[in-house]
Amino acid sequence: MIYDRIAKGYDKALAPFEKRFLSRWRRETLSFLPENARILEIGAGTGANFKFYPKQTRAVASEISIKMLRLARNKTNQIQLVQANAETLPFAANSFDAAFATLVFCSIPNPSNAFAELRRIVKPNGKIVLLEHVRPKGLSGYVFDFLNIFTVPLMEDHFNRQTAKLAENSGLKILEVKQKAFGIVNLIICENDKKS
Ligand SMILES: C[S@@+](CC[C@H](N)C(=O)[O-])C[C@H]1O[C@@H](n2cnc3c(N)ncnc32)[C@H](O)[C@@H]1O
Repeated sequence: MIYDRIAKGYDKALAPFEKRFLSRWRRETLSFLPENARILEIGAGTGANFKFYPKQTRAVASEISIKMLRLARNKTNQIQLVQANAETLPFAANSFDAAFATLVFCSIPNPSNAFAELRRIVKPNGKIVLLEHVRPKGLSGYVFDFLNIFTVPLMEDHFNRQTAKLAENSGLKILEVKQKAFGIVNLIICENDKKS
C-alpha cells in the first residue's frame, strides 16, 4: 500500500498546496455537511480535514492505511478513528447522517463498491460530499488518459476517473458538481436517494 510508505512525508508534501488552495477547498467541501450530526469520513489520511469538521459532529474518520491513521491520531482526541477499507465498511446500514471524502476516489481500486457501501451506511436523503481530482472535459481528458497508464502502477492513483458519473451510476442523486482548477478537481455534492 503506497500510503503506508509515504505517510510520513504526506503533510509536508501537501503543505504548499494547502496554503494556496487545498485548505480553502476542504473548508468549502465540509460546509455542505450538516451540523450536530453523525458523519463518516472515508480515506481520512493524516486527518487534514479534522479542523474543518462541522460543529458538534459525532464523527468517525476511517482510513485503510494504518500509518496514515497513526498520524491522524495526533490531530484529534474527539473524532473516532477506524481502520477500514471503503469498499467493505464495518458499519451498520443507515448508521450515518452524511459522509464525505477528499482526494480518495482516485485511489480506490473498485469505486463502485465504495459507492455501494456509502449508499448502504448513509441514511435516506443524507448528503455524500466528495472533493476529487478527475478526468477533465475536452482534449485535456486524453492527456489524463495517457498519464493514467503511469500513475496507476506508480502511485495507485487513477488520473482519469469520472467520479461524478460513477456516483450517478451507483444511484446517488447528484445535486451539484462545482468545477475547480479548470475541471481537474470536482466538488461533488450528492444525496442518498435510496428509491433509485
Ligand atoms: C490522497 S490521500 C487523501 C487523504 C485525505 N483524505 C486528504 O484529503 O488529505 C488518499 C487516501 O485514501 C486512502 N485510501 C486508498 N484506498 C482506500 C480504500 N480502499 N479505503 C479507504 N481508504 C483508502 C489512502 O490510504 C490515503 O490515505
